[in-house]
Formats: sequence, structure tokens, C-alpha cells
Amino acid sequence: MRTTVSLESAAPIVRRRLLRWYDRHRRELPWRGTPPDPYATLVSEFMLQQTQVKTVLPYFERFMRRFPTLRSLASASIDDILPFWAGLGYYRRCHHLHAAACAIVDRHRGRIPKDVEALRALPGVGAYTAGAIASIAFNIAVPAVDGNVCRVLSRLRGDDPKSAGSRPQNETLAARLVAPRRPGDFNQALMELGALICTPRSPDCSRCPLRALCPSRDRTAALPARRKAPLPKSPRTLHVVALAILRKEQTFLVRRPDRGLWAGLYMWPTAECLPHADRDTAALDLCRRLLPRAAAYPHHVGNVRHVLTHRTVRFDVYVVCVNIGARPTVTGRWRPLTSSGTDPPLSTAQRKLEAYLVSHASA
Ligand code: ADE
Repeated sequence: MRTTVSLESAAPIVRRRLLRWYDRHRRELPWRGTPPDPYATLVSEFMLQQTQVKTVLPYFERFMRRFPTLRSLASASIDDILPFWAGLGYYRRCHHLHAAACAIVDRHRGRIPKDVEALRALPGVGAYTAGAIASIAFNIAVPAVDGNVCRVLSRLRGDDPKSAGSRPQNETLAARLVAPRRPGDFNQALMELGALICTPRSPDCSRCPLRALCPSRDRTAALPARRKAPLPKSPRTLHVVALAILRKEQTFLVRRPDRGLWAGLYMWPTAECLPHADRDTAALDLCRRLLPRAAAYPHHVGNVRHVLTHRTVRFDVYVVCVNIGARPTVTGRWRPLTSSGTDPPLSTAQRKLEAYLVSHASA
């Protein structure tokens, strides 16, 4: 196994080969300006937490058109911002990004701080994001070790990326390798290598600029990162009845709380139930709670399943048609059943429900 010590002694070669490769093969991404814009770096790094570049791209462009400066973001309300995040998932990131922008205005007079500790003190900023922003936006020589980088460095050490204790070793190695003159490019080069070449299941060692130094080259098949992570035996299933109240062409949506799943997004009113509970009764209870005076009964139109990272949500979808005077007992918004806009913002799960309801309504 190649030790960290010998890799560190090869640091100048690692830097040179990696940066040369990056200069030739890097993707042109809208947040990779020269010089980099710290605000664009901040927004992109929040969006890129747990999300791939190709998914982020259209969201990033729309977001930056609507909120071109940190102050424009800080002065907006979360309800103005969420529509630009709807569909990207992990909505806590959006709340954190807004809170971070407000904290930067309050504590740093609107300028993104240039030191790692002050960055880490911002909402939603951990070691990785602080390292990425400091190195990319401000050329500070600190590491930024995300999942992709961790895999690349483990392989370079000849280790199993999944082995216990690999993260601290990779962070130590990254801190020693980071190129003092081009830390942002170096960190992004490692990310880019992990995303494009040193991929989890089919790394293309023949195109890797570090192959001559890598003890795992052409044998990553033997290292467990190649195996797909086993699925948990029974991801927790949440059973939910969803009620689409239809009033003329309009449907009624409620806002989710600011914390938890789909924080701040809109959805059809729901009630969680036990796996074996009678859905018709649960839907009727929900309907009576929201519309105590309505005489109509909700009818079942089908199921929609939505798989999240740690759980599956199974919606039993009910529809109830009410007359024009009906007023639900809770606060919410009416909007056309078919609406291409993003306001109010819906999660991907609710978009599935919407597609289902629309196809049902037109059937
Ligand atoms: N993932 C996280 N940050 C990134 C960046 N700046 N470029 C590419 N992928 C990334």
C-alpha cells in the first residue's frame, strides 16, 4: 500500500499533473469565472451539496438571474426564494443559504468573509463548504474534501474508500497536497477528477493524470467502492393520505412548516396514517377537519410513491369537489390545478401528485 508519507513527498508532481489536466479538461461552469465571484461561489457550493453539477446548472442560472447579488438575496423573503429552489431537493439548504446571506449582511457588512473560521460560523457551512469557498473565491490554501474527493484520495492511498477512518486520513492528505498558489483550482480539479474519471463504479484509469502514482489503478474492481451500496432492507415508508380539494378549476395548497421535510414548500393537505389504517376514513376525517360544512365525500383516485434518501412516501390520493363558497379552516393558497409556474413552490413529490391529478382530471 502506498503510504501517505510517500504521496506527500510526491506532492509537487501530484499538483503539477492534476492542474495540467484540469486546465485542459475542466468543464466551463457558470460559477467558474476568472476571477471567481465570491457570491456565485457561495450559491453554487450550497446547491452542489449532495447534488450533481448537471442537476444544479439550470437552477443556478435561474437563481442568479433573480438574485444577482448577496444583498438582493438577503433582502428577499424565504417565500420569494423557495420557488427558485423547488425541485432541487434538500430544502434546508435554501433556508440556510438565505440565513447565511442575512448573517453576512449583519455581521460582515455584506462581504463574504475571507477566513475559514468566519465562514464555518455561517448557517449551513461545514468544513467542506468553508474550504471550497475559501479556496475557490479567495485563493486560501485549505482543503475541501467532499465525497468525490474522499474517494479519489482513498484510492491514491491504496485504501478502500469505505473503510472506517478514511475521512480523517484523506483530510490530512488533502491539507498537505493542496497547491499553495492555486488552491481553488486544485480542489476543483480533485472534484472534477472524481466526477469525470475516478467515478465510484467504473473509473477510467487509462485517462487519469495520476495513474502512475496510484496504487489502485486498474484494480479498483477489487476495492469495495465498486459495489453498489446495499439498499437498506426496508426503507421506512410513510403512509399519507393527500386531499385535492377542487373548487372550479382551482385546487387548495397548504404551506409546509419551515423545518423538516419540504420545509416551506406547498403541498396538498395531507394526513399521515399507520400502515394498516383505513385510508377512506383518514381521508374523510381530513376532509371534515378542513371543510366541516362540506357535504361531499372524498373519493380515492390512486397512489403515488415517492422515494427519498432515507424513506419512501406513499400517498393515497383523494379528490373532493366543493362549491365556490367553500372555505377551508386552515390557511393556504388556491391555484389552478394545471399551472406551469413555480409559485407557490412544489417539491418533486408534489409535482408527481400534480401530474397524476391532471391526468385523472382529463381522463
Ligand atoms: N462540487 C462541489 N463544488 C464543486 C465545484 N466547484 N465544481 C464542481 N463540482 C463541485
